[in-house]
Amino acid sequence: MKVKALLGDPFALETDGLILTVYENQERWTGGLAKADRLLGGKLRDLQKWGEVRGKASEVTIVHTLGQMKPRRLVLVGVGKRDDASLESFRRAMGSVVRALNRIRARTAHWLMEATEGTDIGDLSRALTEAALLANYRYSRKTEGDTAPTLESLHLITLDRSARSAVEQGVETGTIVGEATNRTRDLVNAPPIEMTPTALAEAAVEVARLRSLDCSVYDEKWIEEMGMNALRAVSLGSAQNPRFVVLQYRGHESAPVLALVGKGITFDSGGLCLKPADSMLDMKGDMSGAAAVIGAFDAIGRLQPKANVLGVIPATENMPGGGAFKPGDILKTYLGKTVEIINTDAEGRLILADALAYAVNQGASSILDAATLTGAAMIAVGPVCTAAFSNNEDLLNEVTHIGRKMGELLWPMPLLEDYKKLIDGDFADIKNSGGRQGGAITAAWFLAHFVGKVPWVHLDIAPTFWSDREEGYLGKGATGVAVRTFVQWVLERSDKDREG
Ligand code: BES
Ligand code: MN
Ligand code: ZN
Repeated sequence: MKVKALLGDPFALETDGLILTVYENQERWTGGLAKADRLLGGKLRDLQKWGEVRGKASEVTIVHTLGQMKPRRLVLVGVGKRDDASLESFRRAMGSVVRALNRIRARTAHWLMEATEGTDIGDLSRALTEAALLANYRYSRKTEGDTAPTLESLHLITLDRSARSAVEQGVETGTIVGEATNRTRDLVNAPPIEMTPTALAEAAVEVARLRSLDCSVYDEKWIEEMGMNALRAVSLGSAQNPRFVVLQYRGHESAPVLALVGKGITFDSGGLCLKPADSMLDMKGDMSGAAAVIGAFDAIGRLQPKANVLGVIPATENMPGGGAFKPGDILKTYLGKTVEIINTDAEGRLILADALAYAVNQGASSILDAATLTGAAMIAVGPVCTAAFSNNEDLLNEVTHIGRKMGELLWPMPLLEDYKKLIDGDFADIKNSGGRQGGAITAAWFLAHFVGKVPWVHLDIAPTFWSDREEGYLGKGATGVAVRTFVQWVLERSDKDREG
């Protein structure tokens, strides 16, 4: 599906659906609603009187126009109470609309953009575009009986000449970010028999080729030579070789290096500390952080911000093969710190330890990482928010704010000093598990050991990488979480750098 911006009269168009938004308890109907009501002889308003159109968030009412106007249907969508309406209400409304339109096999649709108080029309256009692309996404390997989305084009149409360029700009950015997020979802939804560490690295190479970025892929020999023994240890139980992927975007000669790091476990069986069958089912998604980094670079390469961005992806399976690392093992990490293995299922922090230390070594000025790191984070905040941890309050506030704006909720967790001792090692510097209590926090503390003083935010996306239901603008499966936050962070940092 393509989303486009359009200037013109929506009532002069033959479209499968002209979409109009309605607030809850909206007394005054102006603009598009008023015109539609007029063209239908005042009958549209009756639907509101009868309680069929209430304007409740994401409520969709399809009205056939039966020749009374050019658009074949009106699609009325609720966005909730005017005072509560946010970009996210509009995203979710768009999600319901796209689903409803596909259900009736619509091919074209037009969303009427009207000025909304307190919302920038460019931001709104971008949010709507992203939501439309995310809602129209589908991953299916069915060979029969599958109904693919029919929607081919969606126009954001405005009558206001002065809004035109803002809408166009919003659609362009939204398209880039939406498509990048769907690329991430494709990588995560892919079955693990295909999405091996090698394939994950190839996906990064492909993005680099498409967007003219630098990408280096290192193999098991390099990993061993570099002393990345934590990453290496995790890879030993698998028949698949590990990869270490470094992406680079250079959009500015002197801007500080912003690092994005993502956990790339292409399948987490738990290793010798094997997971029970039920817990393994979603573990093909244990490379969601890595996939988010790849998606973010896809968008960054197209948006061309004045920034320098470093992407780091440690990629391996965690399997219980004969060569597997074991509880009781002691490893020397890339940074030099030693780690005692308590549980081979706490593998994400191990591969990230080497990746984070590498990012620091490469001169990262600030680091964001995304990782499906702990079941404990799911228990703490799931399934609504990503759990966020940081060693720097300013950066944490910055990222939290961005996440909220972009529709990726994240919530700060206490990385308090008192938790740190829970992973003090008995025979090595630290141990890779602090037990069940505060599991997401001790995992974050483990990572903190490897970033030193560099400002860093860790996003534990275990609660949010996967959706079990159709909801809002997301269907079942991978959500592509963290792409929007990563991209917006880089965009806002590049604006700041330009000002400064
Ligand atoms: N990949 C898992 C965490 C996870 C669980 C992500 C569920 C998404 C959904 C991680 O590697 C893991 O196994 N963590 C363990 C750590 C424990 C052994 C200290 C966990 O959370 O149970
Ligand atoms: Mn694990
Ligand atoms: Zn894992």
